[in-house]
Amino acid sequence: MKRFDVRRAVTADAALLCDLHKASVRALCAGSYSAAQIELWLAPRSADDYRRAMAAGEVMLAATYADRVVGFASTKGAELRALYVDPKLGRGAGGALLLAAEEQVRSAGEPVLHLQATPNAVAFYRKHGYMREARGVVRRGGVELQVLCMRKSLQSAGLPSTITRSVTAPARRNADASWYSGE
Ligand SMILES: CC(C)(COP(=O)(O)OP(=O)(O)OC[C@H]1O[C@@H](n2cnc3c(N)ncnc32)[C@H](O)[C@@H]1OP(=O)(O)O)[C@@H](O)C(=O)NCCC(=O)NCCS
Repeated sequence: MKRFDVRRAVTADAALLCDLHKASVRALCAGSYSAAQIELWLAPRSADDYRRAMAAGEVMLAATYADRVVGFASTKGAELRALYVDPKLGRGAGGALLLAAEEQVRSAGEPVLHLQATPNAVAFYRKHGYMREARGVVRRGGVELQVLCMRKSLQSAGLPSTITRSVTAPARRNADASWYSGE
């Protein structure tokens, strides 16, 4: 069982975050989009994008395991912009990152967190209390991708007040393919 810590990411993490993001998409979103779509999505992405996003007010959180960054989440205002784990070392960090991101957004005064889920992640978000709003299409790099817009009320209290936490990873499970149906 792995223990992950979550801390605020800094500009020095940018290159790592970029590499991790690409590895995560290639490995974990492969069942949702074609290889060609994924490469068009990732092609223009560089470490500078992450530095610029931080400078523009995006809050990035990094999950670490044995001092190594193994996942990250990013929020801006009431939106979860990104949540990605390293496919080899970070599985199990997603829940910890999502809780930390929710806590960060709640403490900034936002009552609701919105996100645009890739198909592979819908079951994960449902499990964490997110409700489906509508189907959507987002432009990422040079491609349009189908997503599911989801939201969660952050009103219910009960989480600790610090964004730094340690979480033990649960056992793994398979992805859920029925992402567009149901609530
Ligand atoms: C989605 C993602 C962040 C989940 O991270 P993870 O580390 O694998 O998730 P965790 O192991 O922390 O899962 C936390 C909980 O969600 C559940 N869960 C995770 N993935 C799930 C899935 N596909 N279906 C159902 N439940 C899932 C886990 O069972 C666990 O529940 P538990 O605490 O009751 O045991 C990760 O798979 C990822 O990076 N995917 C690629 C990028 C991506 O799709 N990001 C979202 C973009 S919108």
